Amino acid sequence: MLQWLAFLSVLVVSLVVHAVTEPRIVAMGDLHGDLNNTLTIMRFAGLIDQDNRWSGGDTIFVQTGDVVDRGVDTIALYELLQRLRDEAKEQGGQVVSVLGNHEIMNMVGDWRYVHPDDIASFGGKQARIKAFSKEGWIGSDLMEWNLTAKVGSSVFCHGGILPKYSHDGIDGINRRAKESLETYINEREDTYGLFGGDGPTWYRGFAVGDERICAVLDKALMMLEADRMVMGHTVQRDGRIRARCGGKAILIDIGISHVYGGHPGALEIQGDQIHAVYEHGKEKLVASRIHEEL
Ligand SMILES: *[C@@H]1O[C@H](CO)[C@@H](O)[C@H](O)[C@H]1NC(C)=O
Ligand SMILES: *[C@@H]1O[C@H](CO)[C@@H](O)[C@H](O)[C@H]1NC(C)=O
Repeated sequence: MLQWLAFLSVLVVSLVVHAVTEPRIVAMGDLHGDLNNTLTIMRFAGLIDQDNRWSGGDTIFVQTGDVVDRGVDTIALYELLQRLRDEAKEQGGQVVSVLGNHEIMNMVGDWRYVHPDDIASFGGKQARIKAFSKEGWIGSDLMEWNLTAKVGSSVFCHGGILPKYSHDGIDGINRRAKESLETYINEREDTYGLFGGDGPTWYRGFAVGDERICAVLDKALMMLEADRMVMGHTVQRDGRIRARCGGKAILIDIGISHVYGGHPGALEIQGDQIHAVYEHGKEKLVASRIHEEL
């Protein structure tokens, strides 16, 4: 009897410890102006209820940028993320946002991918410029977003982080981005090269490179003290979350927006349990072999 009680208490304690140390992380890639599909995914991934209120408890939700452009639901999506951030906090959860290249493009006034109806939804060009300025309700929020985030043992970013940006870790990248973003917006001067083609918001190498890229990723992950990198930015046209480099690179831009076919899905990480969550249910994520996939 006593032995059984001892056994049970060990079991309960280890379950509790497990729950404490292994938070549930749900990550979504590029939303590109599609509120409806975003809400659909958030619902089946257990983040929100039927009234679109946070129901994820202590889940950590990570969105890897490119909320804006191509689609037209810019206002509703940024409002949603800001509201859920507060609601999640009340339940012990968290909403983590990292900047995509399209957030930064909108801040610097590069509106190549802005839909005319999106401009109209703000009440015109001037109003939209103001909203994305660093004093505006979207811009002031984006100025607080990081370029990258480490949650548990996973690094999240929009494009990908090369070793040359990794020497002083996640905090170093975020600090330099904070230091230089305003200058970049005002003068297009990219002090640390963080906002350019091979910077964390634009780089595609880990998504499209051949096997040799995995050694580069390994080096970056070692410097960032992380087990894997989770990235958006490069659309997986089949609508399926892909793992490469033995699962160290996870690609979560699956074309959620109807503009890219409207493929609903999210990534779920809990400890070493990694799943893709689709409308029909969860699937264990299995890394593909790069030489077979290309
Ligand atoms: C909303 O999204 C769901 C699936 O994500 C789709 O079946 C439905 O047709 C969409 N509704 C609208 C109004 O686009
Ligand atoms: C940005 O990242 C730093 C660490 O790199 C962290 O201290 C800070 O809380 C983050 N800010 C937000 C808004 O997540």
